[in-house]
This record gives sequence, C-alpha cells and structure tokens, in this order.
Amino acid sequence: MRTTTLGTNGPEVGVVGLGCMGMTHSYDLETPRDNQTSIAVIHQAIDLGMTLIDTADVYGPYTNEELVGQALAAGYRERAVLATKVGLTGDTVQVANPGNTSPGVARNGRPEHVRESIDGSLRRLRTDHVDLYQLHRIDPQVPLEETWGAMAETVAAGKARLIGLSEVTTGDIIRAQAVHPVTSIQSELSLWTRDALAEVLPFCQQHGIAFLPFSPLGRGFLTGRFASPDDLPQQDFRRGLPRFQQEALQANLAIVGRVREVARRAGASPAQVALAWVLAQGQHVVPIPGTKTPRYLADNAGAADVVLTAADISELDAMPAPVGTRY
Ligand SMILES: NC(=O)c1ccc[n+]([C@@H]2O[C@H](COP(=O)([O-])OP(=O)(O)OC[C@H]3O[C@@H](n4cnc5c(N)ncnc54)[C@H](OP(=O)(O)O)[C@@H]3O)[C@@H](O)[C@H]2O)c1
Repeated sequence: MRTTTLGTNGPEVGVVGLGCMGMTHSYDLETPRDNQTSIAVIHQAIDLGMTLIDTADVYGPYTNEELVGQALAAGYRERAVLATKVGLTGDTVQVANPGNTSPGVARNGRPEHVRESIDGSLRRLRTDHVDLYQLHRIDPQVPLEETWGAMAETVAAGKARLIGLSEVTTGDIIRAQAVHPVTSIQSELSLWTRDALAEVLPFCQQHGIAFLPFSPLGRGFLTGRFASPDDLPQQDFRRGLPRFQQEALQANLAIVGRVREVARRAGASPAQVALAWVLAQGQHVVPIPGTKTPRYLADNAGAADVVLTAADISELDAMPAPVGTRY
C-alpha cells in the first residue's frame, strides 16, 4: 500500500489504517465475539500495509486493547504503528432505547489519570511504548494545558513516541501546540460528516499535522449495508443515533444511491469510493475504517488504489446533507 508520513516527523504509515473499536465495542454486541477472526483481521491489515492500528482504553472498556495486544504479540508489534487513547472512562451505558449501548461518556483529563492510564494501556497492549497516544476528548473541568502536559510527560518517559488529539477545534490545537507538538487530530470525517473540512483539516495541512478521519464509512451506512434500522443488530450503538432512525435513514439512502453510482463508474465498491473521497482531501489524511471481517478489510485496503475523476469528486462533493445529527 502507498504510504504517507504521520505528521511532520512521524513514522511512515499506509494511507489507510484500521480502527479496532467495533471488534469489542459499540456495534453488534449480541453476536458472540470472534476474537480469533478479529486477530486475523489485524494481522491481515498489517500484512497489507495498513499499519496504523487504532484502539482506546475505553473500548470495552479495556477488552479492545487486550485484543490488540494479543494480536500484536504474535510477531506484529514492530510492523505496526500503534495508536491508543485516554480521557474517556466508564463502562458501557444504556442510551436512547432499552437494549442500546453507547461508549461511556465520562471525561477524565486529570494529569494523574493520564499518568496511571498509560501504564494500564502498555500492560494490556503488551508493549513498552505506543507510537501515538491520543487524548480522546478534552475534559472541560481540566485546563487542556494540564492534560496535554501529562501527555507530554508520557513522551519524555519513553512510554509514547508521539501525541495527538481527537474532536478538537483549531483553538484547542493552538493551545496544545504551545505546550508540546501535536502529531495528529482524529475527528469524524466522511461523505456525510464534513464539519472538519471547514477549518480543522486545512489547519492540520498547513501545520504538518496528520488528520485521521474516524467513522469514514459513516459507521457502515455509506457501504449500503443498511436499508432499514431493522438491518442493525439489536445490541448496537447505531440504533440510538439520529441518522439511523427509520425516517432519517430512508432519506439518507439517497446518499448511498449516489455513492453506488460513482462506485459503478469507478469499478470500485461503495466502501472504496467513500474512503477514496476521504483520501482525496489531502496527503496528510489517514482514515481508520473499522472492520472485523476479512473481506471488508481487503476491500478497504483496495481503496488506496481507487482513482476518482474530477467529475466523481464533484458529484460526491455535491451530495445532499444527511438527515439527522451525528449523535
Ligand atoms: N476518536 C473517536 O472519538 C472515535 C469515534 C468513533 C470511532 N473511532 C475510531 O474510528 C474507527 C472507525 O470508525 P467506526 O468503526 O465507527 O466506523 P466506520 O469505519 O465508518 O464503519 C464501520 C462499520 O462498517 C462496516 N464495514 C467496514 N468496512 C466495510 C466494507 N468494506 N463493506 C461493508 N461494510 C464495511 C463494519 O462492519 P464489520 O465490523 O461488521 O466488519 C462496521 O459495521 C473505530 O474503529 C475507532 O478506532 C474513533
């Protein structure tokens, strides 16, 4: 797979990475977990050059890092660029309708929490350092400079090589940069979530910061897999999201229709088109699509080679806005 540099001085990574969240968290919680297949998917990703492997301590909580640690311990650690996150805590909580679960939403940006958490993450990930340690969300109760200062300490201690932020404004990035260099910003970006294009993504490009789009497949919706909320598993975070409610979802199928049409012309899959559009936003962009399915992983890897024409990009740019907010 073609590669890019993570930030200004970071390691080379494949232009498409792998998000591991859905392997143990948020989605499809009723199907018994198949950790062996998930581990095989992580190995497959690294073998294909999708070297940026993303997890977080809150996924599970903890089970996701344990799974990733198990996968990497089988001779893959040195070939991976391992990214985890700190700053969200809590067990899964019930939201919206009974049966729906969402990630814990408590924020903890206290410096002592960061100092303790990195050691837990390293233990679960079976490594002496992570390549990228990310602040999952800013804690409004704690000045960012204090949290970020503790993140910088993890670098000084050799426990993290680089540090990044998630879901922040350009103002936040400037404040953090004054304390310690910001290597990456992880925020949602996809054909149906484009907020980052206005300011954060161009700011990152200007300042040599990598932009890591999360949920680049619209949590699976843009692939055309879901024609009705009934297609979602019962125990699934998406059942509580506004864009996946019956009326909104039906309206949003118009977006999928456009993606399918471009995919047909490009000789690619809808997932590949969704990822190729994200990749077209800049050389500093490294999407981290999530999957626990070998054939989807191979499909996503292929997105790096999909060439969209100017007409394809214009058509995708002109897509109608989705019905429903993100959360
Ligand atoms: N920083 C943050 O706050 C934050 C928030 C959310 C996510 N993330 C990160 O971003 C990663 C990706 O986001 P995400 O998992 O929410 O959403 P996503 O990547 O947009 O979509 C994942 C969904 O798409 C399906 N899928 C993947 N590739 C496919 C393909 N080629 N064809 C058909 N279906 C396909 C997956 O199915 P299967 O799982 O069934 O294979 C899964 O249901 C996460 O794993 C996590 O690391 C970060």
